Amino acid sequence: MKEIIKRPRGTIDYYGENGNLLSSVMKILLKESELYGCEYCEVPLFEETRLFHRSVGEGSDIVRKETFDLVKKGDKDYTLRPEFTASINRMVIENKIWSSPDLPLRFSYFGPVFRYERPQSGRLRQFYQYGCEFFDNKIDIDASLDAILLAITSAEKVLKHEITLKINYLGSLSSRENYKKALYDYFAPQISSMCEDCKERLVKNPLRILDCKVEEDQKLCLNAPKITDYLIEEDKEEFKNLLSALDSANIKYVLDPSLVRGLDYYTGVVFELYDSLDFPAIGGGGKYSSLMSDLGGPDFEGIGFSLGVDRLLMRLSDDEKAKLVGEDLDILFIDMKKDGKALSLVNNLRKANYSLRIASLSRSLTGALKMADRLHAKYVIIYEDEIKVKDLKTREQRVVNEEDIISYLGEKDA
Ligand code: HAM
Repeated sequence: MKEIIKRPRGTIDYYGENGNLLSSVMKILLKESELYGCEYCEVPLFEETRLFHRSVGEGSDIVRKETFDLVKKGDKDYTLRPEFTASINRMVIENKIWSSPDLPLRFSYFGPVFRYERPQSGRLRQFYQYGCEFFDNKIDIDASLDAILLAITSAEKVLKHEITLKINYLGSLSSRENYKKALYDYFAPQISSMCEDCKERLVKNPLRILDCKVEEDQKLCLNAPKITDYLIEEDKEEFKNLLSALDSANIKYVLDPSLVRGLDYYTGVVFELYDSLDFPAIGGGGKYSSLMSDLGGPDFEGIGFSLGVDRLLMRLSDDEKAKLVGEDLDILFIDMKKDGKALSLVNNLRKANYSLRIASLSRSLTGALKMADRLHAKYVIIYEDEIKVKDLKTREQRVVNEEDIISYLGEKDA
């Protein structure tokens, strides 16, 4: 026997019911983003490595140890995208989409991203992200609220129950530098007792220490300086206005001063979504004021979020999954003659919007009928000298003329 090659660790094969589920959820999420005026976009799966170094940040865990860097083929280094935000910013700059008068620009996306993380429950190496990014000269309060609300309503459209929004404010670059210095002064005397990652974080970006998952290190974080004490007046005012706007819109939130996010580009509000406190975040996002100019674009601000689609699916019960999978198959078509003559009927049925699958006869007619039940098909059509249509709900079977079949089954909307 030849050795079977398995899928890489930390990846998922989506097939059967889960394959249908993924495509149904994609439709639900993109539909929701359309309600907020987003335009769907697609960007390459790989980009120049330096794009992620300049955006996600040299000090981030993602760039330090999680990127899938491709073997060099030409004169440039390429990396599989670990997230979308950098690519969407690049797309807006390179194609000069920022010159559009229709602001804020709003984009949605859906696709796989790659991070070489230690695989565990809810932590994959290839996972799907859905998200949106808005851009404007200045992201105003309406755009900020809309971005946060869209993140919440998208997740809730799939999960069908309320989720928790955690929120914090990281402030402008200048207030963040003061804060980083305060964190450095606080952690430096105790760094020898902390984990190896934190030792590196202290030098590269002490903010990241607040995100450490090691229990002993987390205890030390409890008394660390709080970002709110380091915000300049303008930041404090912006955060206050945003929170009161959330209050007036009746959006519930939990303030979390230790929420720092794992990417370096955030400058204002940051947020994460949780379905349960013992399950990792199902989404996260925030505002970034200088990413576009850092990448060589105009002085535009952005705000956005991404949801982890695999994590969303993991939160669904079997019942909820079955409801989301959508319509069952309309017709299982059994071609007893297999001489190619059935094709014109098959094509007409599909043109009339019936979903139709043709059974193989390698497992007999009885086998094909069992297959129809397993696929929850609504009808079976047995194509031989006469055409039999069987309604699998009523179990009634009739002989119908080929030209009468569509009127017999009834009109179907697209
Ligand atoms: P992120 O927090 O790194 O943010 O990822 C967003 C979501 O992707 C997470 O909340 C989580 O649900 C999912 N996710 C992250 N890592 C994994 C993993 N290893 N396995 C499964 N799911 C995972 C970003 O990527 C930012 N680009 C979000 C953003 C958009 N900020 C502004 N605009």
